[in-house]
Amino acid sequence: MKDSAAGHSDDANISPDLLRQLAYSEKMAELGRISAGIVHELNSPLSVIISAAQMIMREEGVPEGVQEMISRIGSEALRLSHLTKGLLNFSSHDDSIGDTDLNLTADFILNFLNFEAARRGVLVLKQFDYSLPTIRLDANMLKQVLLNIIMNALQAMENSGGKLLVETASGGNDSVRFIITDNGPGIPAESLDRIFDRYFTTKKPGEGTGLGLFVTKNLVKNAGGSIWVTSSSGGTAFTVTLPALH
Ligand SMILES: Nc1ncnc2c1ncn2[C@@H]1O[C@H](COP(=O)(O)OP(=O)(O)OP(=O)(O)O)[C@@H](O)[C@H]1O
Ligand SMILES: [Mg+2]
Repeated sequence: MKDSAAGHSDDANISPDLLRQLAYSEKMAELGRISAGIVHELNSPLSVIISAAQMIMREEGVPEGVQEMISRIGSEALRLSHLTKGLLNFSSHDDSIGDTDLNLTADFILNFLNFEAARRGVLVLKQFDYSLPTIRLDANMLKQVLLNIIMNALQAMENSGGKLLVETASGGNDSVRFIITDNGPGIPAESLDRIFDRYFTTKKPGEGTGLGLFVTKNLVKNAGGSIWVTSSSGGTAFTVTLPALH
């Protein structure tokens, strides 16, 4: 097994790379704005469907089979409505330092990625420590960190019907830690030192920008935390430690 920590920072002065990085951030912000609009548009018809389903359920003499179908329509619409509210929450912007609950945020991201995991036949396991202090990182930043690492893990297990384990624990010294383990093919030793580099990707053009872990590393470092990876042919584990608020 080979280890690699988030290493050197190659932050130069304003460079073409930095400009591309800024363009990427702007693209993400734009995506946030667009999704907020879509969510808004989706929520109105969903509310109509949910209340219509409830009204039909209150009618007398509705055959049992129809009642069952209406109840399914109602509960699926409700599920979609919760999902879209989650999206809105995801795209909203907040630059404050944060007082963020790691377990709640990890749950939010796992719900958000439920479909992505199910579509790949990935079994998601959670092992949370529920006595953790809150952390000193804005919730949206933490969502981005979790999303990048978990999405990479899911992508690595594309065809393997794999297993994803999300653990949270105390990190000691007023910090918390989470570990995300997959049983994908692992990261080859020659790539391990480069995965946090800007634009390093092994994905096809259009599928990966190679910015996910670079951005993740910077978010974690700026928050005073650390990120660590271990990998072998049996899978990969990312460990992130973040300072507690107090
Ligand atoms: N869990 C993992 N298992 C195997 N390889 C991984 C894993 N996580 C990251 N990698 C490797 O690290 C590379 C860099 O990851 P990073 O998230 O920075 O970029 P990306 O996923 O390729 O593209 P992007 O995240 O911008 O869409 C990936 O292309 C992949 O080769
Ligand atoms: Mg990625």
